[in-house]
Amino acid sequence: MYQTIDFLKQAYTSLKSSIKWQTQLDEFDIIFLGVLITLILHFILNRIRIPRRDYNQSYWTFIKSQVFLGLINYCPGVSSFLEKKKEEALKSFSHSLDKYTTNKTFKIPENGMGYDKINERLKSWIDRDSKNYYSGKVSGSLYVHNDQQFIEDCQEFTKNFLYSNPMHADLWPASRQLEAEVIKMTGELFGQDKEAIGMLTTGGTESILLAILAYRNWAETEKGITQPNIVIPETAHAAFYKAGEYFKIQVRTAKVNQKTFTVDLKDLKSHINSNTICIVGSLPNFPYGTQDPIEELAAIAKKKKIGFHVDACLGGFIVAFAKEKGMNYGNYDFTLDGVTSISCDQHKHGLAPKGVSTILFKTRQLRQYAFFSTATWSGGAYAVPTTQGSKTGVGAAGAWFTMLAIGRKRYIELSKSIINATIQLAKQINEIPELEVCGEPKINCVCFKSKGNINVYSIHQILTSKGWNLNTTQNPNGIHISVTQQNIQNLKVFVQDIKEAIKEIKTNPSKYKSGGDMGALYGTTQKIPDSKFAGNALKLYLDSVLKL
Ligand SMILES: Cc1ncc(COP(=O)(O)O)c(C=O)c1O
Repeated sequence: MYQTIDFLKQAYTSLKSSIKWQTQLDEFDIIFLGVLITLILHFILNRIRIPRRDYNQSYWTFIKSQVFLGLINYCPGVSSFLEKKKEEALKSFSHSLDKYTTNKTFKIPENGMGYDKINERLKSWIDRDSKNYYSGKVSGSLYVHNDQQFIEDCQEFTKNFLYSNPMHADLWPASRQLEAEVIKMTGELFGQDKEAIGMLTTGGTESILLAILAYRNWAETEKGITQPNIVIPETAHAAFYKAGEYFKIQVRTAKVNQKTFTVDLKDLKSHINSNTICIVGSLPNFPYGTQDPIEELAAIAKKKKIGFHVDACLGGFIVAFAKEKGMNYGNYDFTLDGVTSISCDQHKHGLAPKGVSTILFKTRQLRQYAFFSTATWSGGAYAVPTTQGSKTGVGAAGAWFTMLAIGRKRYIELSKSIINATIQLAKQINEIPELEVCGEPKINCVCFKSKGNINVYSIHQILTSKGWNLNTTQNPNGIHISVTQQNIQNLKVFVQDIKEAIKEIKTNPSKYKSGGDMGALYGTTQKIPDSKFAGNALKLYLDSVLKL
């Protein structure tokens, strides 16, 4: 020990004398210069943006994307060319949306408009739009069963809550009660018999954001994690990436088995480290409608002492009722050790009007990590459970009315019909020699890909011309349909239309080689070496959606 101190002393003295000898500076000058150089370096380094490789990016993709961005930013003429292209794209997006924009209003009218005129506009919009959303040829989007009287009764009930604001629980106690009852009824579906611990949100995305926020705050407070990451199957919903972006959490994606289209557990485990705050499983996932191995994921989370979110936004209301009919989806709720949060959407297969979902937590402590409160704000003590401040009571009212009016028995029947139709549809598509269903969907969505040369996006192109409104997937390229009470009657027509589309493509292969608009879109985005650049280009579409 003494020897070490002695050595350090000697080293310091010789360093001091050598610097003095070299520069003739005194000790104060040396300290001053040292601090100055440190500050200058700090200033420079803070201004240089050193590109960082994304966790999910390979070194090769990273290099390609940097070269690509370098070309865009520094090659003369390239950025102005891109600006021009962006303007053109914006115009073209706006033009395609403008086709459906009638009676534009740019300013508040000087004198209020008569109700007759307002209703005239409303009628023309509803007459036109309802032909699309009630066409019975739409994937997902509108889930309510086709009972016009039920829809009208629900509208009649919910309109009473249009001006309510459940943030003021004292002024609108009925709104507060409806919200708490919806949470309670939903919690009960997922094994929270005694106390439901949840929040009512505006949709699946907000439920997921709040779950991830809770895990981040929990991990920071209780485990000291300041550089958090989440590990999700690559099929998990885009809302998890949104949470990563909003809350600055690294998102690590785990591969999906290309036969079962469910998460590869070995790969998932390999991404977990000491900064992992939670893992995710979907019931089912949106792209393929397949269900991740929830029980195994729960066991991993429990062993690693991290959170496990079950995303049942899409399938929760189907699976929970199917269980009562004896169908076995394994265990997935709070009775399974390891499950710490569940999201479930009333506004999907809960059949409620839009704008309502539930996020449930295993414990009150975990839920508190998603709440916001401040006792020191000059506006007074303030506490809200979700991302909203003032909010409408319509969401809770719509969900409450729907859950009570439909009742358990009808939910069970409706869920069973969706499951049967999904299994049947997957079987029929698998019988088409040119196609193959991705995995084994058993809940409410089916996705299929091409087995041979046929461009699946060309099938999409033809189906669109036949009035279908479907989703396309990538990696692999496919067509996804979410089975709903609206399109369930038309699934036979759907299969027939697919067969006809294949026939048409085969008789005119050169015309259908490229896959139409979708083929062009994915063809381009998949070729762009920087995925963020491609993603940002899509924001142009949002500019045009919000523009008149
Ligand atoms: C599995 C899954 N999770 C989350 C969401 C997000 O729900 P929302 O669109 O209500 O925000 C969806 C939407 O389709 C979904 O399918």
